[in-house]
Amino acid sequence: MGKNFYITTPIYYPSGKPHMGHAYSSIIADIFARFKRLEGYDVLFLTGTDEHGLKIQREAEKNKKDPKIFCDELSEKFKDLTKILNLSNDDFIRTTEKRHYKSVEEIWNRLVKSGDIYLDKYSGWYSVSDEAYYDEDEIEEVKGKKVSKVSGSPVDWVEEESYFFKLSSWSEKLLKYYKDNKNFILPSSRKNEVINFVEKGLKDLSVSRTSFSWGIPVPKNKKHVIYVWLDALTNYISALNFPDINDKNYKKYWPANIHIIGKDILRFHAIYWPAFLLAAKLPLPERIFGHGWILSEDKKMSKSLGNILDPIEIIKTYGIDQLRYYLVKEVSLGNDGSISLQNLKNCINNDLANNYGNLCQRVFSFIKKNCSNKIPKIKKLSVSDNKLLDELKNNIPRLIELMNKQELNEFIKTVVGYSFDSNKYFNDSEPWSVKKKDPERMRTIIFTICEQIKNISILLNSIIPISTNKVLEAMNVKKENRSINQINSLECFDHDKELKELDILFNKIENDN
Ligand code: MSP
Repeated sequence: MGKNFYITTPIYYPSGKPHMGHAYSSIIADIFARFKRLEGYDVLFLTGTDEHGLKIQREAEKNKKDPKIFCDELSEKFKDLTKILNLSNDDFIRTTEKRHYKSVEEIWNRLVKSGDIYLDKYSGWYSVSDEAYYDEDEIEEVKGKKVSKVSGSPVDWVEEESYFFKLSSWSEKLLKYYKDNKNFILPSSRKNEVINFVEKGLKDLSVSRTSFSWGIPVPKNKKHVIYVWLDALTNYISALNFPDINDKNYKKYWPANIHIIGKDILRFHAIYWPAFLLAAKLPLPERIFGHGWILSEDKKMSKSLGNILDPIEIIKTYGIDQLRYYLVKEVSLGNDGSISLQNLKNCINNDLANNYGNLCQRVFSFIKKNCSNKIPKIKKLSVSDNKLLDELKNNIPRLIELMNKQELNEFIKTVVGYSFDSNKYFNDSEPWSVKKKDPERMRTIIFTICEQIKNISILLNSIIPISTNKVLEAMNVKKENRSINQINSLECFDHDKELKELDILFNKIENDN
């Protein structure tokens, strides 16, 4: 087996323009995808749009558009967002594509063949906005309206002929899978939620609808369209050219290593998806990671509260690396986290401009003035130089482990700590004061700090790729020397080559209050 890694984002409903929640899921996945590449893995990173179902059909009707044309337009906005967020996705799947139809039809046929599908009548609650069925005990009345207790979304009573998937018969197998694969659902608080739900007993799931037509028709019964979640979840294998299980991508990348999702869609990914796969006799993904919600000033973002933070506007004003860094530094991954413009500004100033940015800028200008703009060659490192470098280098295995456990906050905290220590080392070693009496010592200090800047830049590369690449580029660090594994080998600088100009990495934000 090669070092392959398959990571996905949820596929987004293109029912409106992309918002911060979408940006968040995608940025998280992008960070892990980039990190695995730096670790030397052959990564496939997938994102896309989820285009069928009643929610989209209604939205298209509201806009007086044919649903396909409506999706074509909005899906473009999500494609644009991948560029704006600087995502490194290798593919973008749309559920209206032919490759996806083929794959969903095959899944359906497999479920029929295994005896997991039967025809009956559904009567119960359905939320169009969640595209989810809810049991009676999951419904409450708020201001005279029935809503889901789980999501707060309005629900309608539905009665129609429907195909069912025998979800109930998979409870035991699912529970065993969760038990045998301790890290299948992360963080573990989410795992307990899922286990409790499954332990209560699962009901069979309605997997087709007849009251609207915007979906993939059930093979051999065109009156029905396939339930949008069975349709959507299958995207993860459609992109690998399933049903061709001999296809090189399918063989290389399935089962997926990780599906990154928001906690609101955990039930679909941690219960329905593995049950569908088990029934279809296909391998299960290794991990489902459910992140928390981004709140604005402690509240859910909503038009009526007027607290929506538009990622595109923020990126225009502050920059994409700034937003990426802020979202993952300040929001504890896995939990809900509040964001605000004021905190974003503080974070940019304190962590990026004053810490990492300042470190790079002051070292670059010192080298320009005092070292002919070249990273000096050295003879021997002192104890304090080694101490600075070794602390980071010896911690590489732990840092890799943190990322592989999705403990992103601890990872960033540690790396930012190195940047802080490096600024302190630079101040304390005072290369400017030894420059005349001990130029060799000055050169050693500068080499050490350059080595450390390079290492920190590689470690932060998956989080703030644009700025760190600028630094590595300006230091003439070749692409092949930018891998995590490379950190431990000293000497990748070209001492005869001048540094390139380094523009200001992060502008400080003036506070207007
Ligand atoms: N189409 C489904 C996913 C199908 S995956 C096979 C869907 N789409 S969505 O567009 O509604 O949401 C996509 C993702 O955005 C989810 O992971 C959801 O958790 C995330 N977010 C939406 N709002 C959010 C916040 N305010 N905060 C963080 N993420 C949230 O669900």
